[in-house]
Amino acid sequence: MTHQTRKVTRMIEPRPVLEGAGVRLIRSIATAELDHVDPFLLFDHFGSRNPDDYMKGFPMHPHRGIETVTYMIRGRVNHKDSMGNSGSITDGDAQWMTSGRGILHEEMPQQIEGEMKGFQLWVNLPAKDKMTAPRYQNITSDQIPEIQQGDGVIIRVIAGEVDGTIGPVKEIVADPIYLDVSVPPNTSYSQAIASDHAAIAYVFEGGGAFGTNGSAQESVVEHPRLMVFGDGDLVSARAGEQGVRFLLMAGKPLNEPIARYGPFVMNTQAEIEQTLQELKNGTFIREG
Ligand code: CO
Repeated sequence: MTHQTRKVTRMIEPRPVLEGAGVRLIRSIATAELDHVDPFLLFDHFGSRNPDDYMKGFPMHPHRGIETVTYMIRGRVNHKDSMGNSGSITDGDAQWMTSGRGILHEEMPQQIEGEMKGFQLWVNLPAKDKMTAPRYQNITSDQIPEIQQGDGVIIRVIAGEVDGTIGPVKEIVADPIYLDVSVPPNTSYSQAIASDHAAIAYVFEGGGAFGTNGSAQESVVEHPRLMVFGDGDLVSARAGEQGVRFLLMAGKPLNEPIARYGPFVMNTQAEIEQTLQELKNGTFIREG
């Protein structure tokens, strides 16, 4: 079978945003430029050497109708929620949170020496699962398989399958791929991705070229940038002189109407109104 390499159809420069109680971050999805890439609704990159940029954190806030995926490269975020869970996400850990019908949680970055760096992705839930029971998949760094290929490429598999290695995040409707890929200087990399899945990549260290190697359709990119890929079944990259490190994410589009209001993403405006009503009258969080 011949593969068709996906071209880069959008190249997004992340925008500075002030979020939570005053966290400085950069956002690539959920902006005026790019509202969403079905099934992905938001992509944030928080990273700073200055604790003032993140210490105020994200105090108690609700979510409904989505999944939030937090992946920490360095630093620590303490979290706790309305289900009585608490813990911390630290260097190399991931947390895949399915809000379903509703949770309240807080996410508080801790002051650390040196750099704090991490990402949050929002994945949409289909109508049939928006009101499911909330759940967490907390994945510590040592549970994430790390594949070292012969040419020095290192792939951390958070979700999806690479060369028979399956990531620890399971039973997610969008059937996602979430990989942290490090490619050494002047080295090529490719990953098959089902042609009916949307694919995006976020370059956060170094740079390289994405698309068909050596062709006019190749897109050269330096960090930080988010790329949206077009039709095909293969994502190809070639690292530049500094090497390149990026997150590669793919998922099955839902093709459903999106009604979003802050941390709630439903299918209709009426469902958003209903959510706000429940928050007001105290029935947002349900037992059992
Ligand atoms: Co949240």
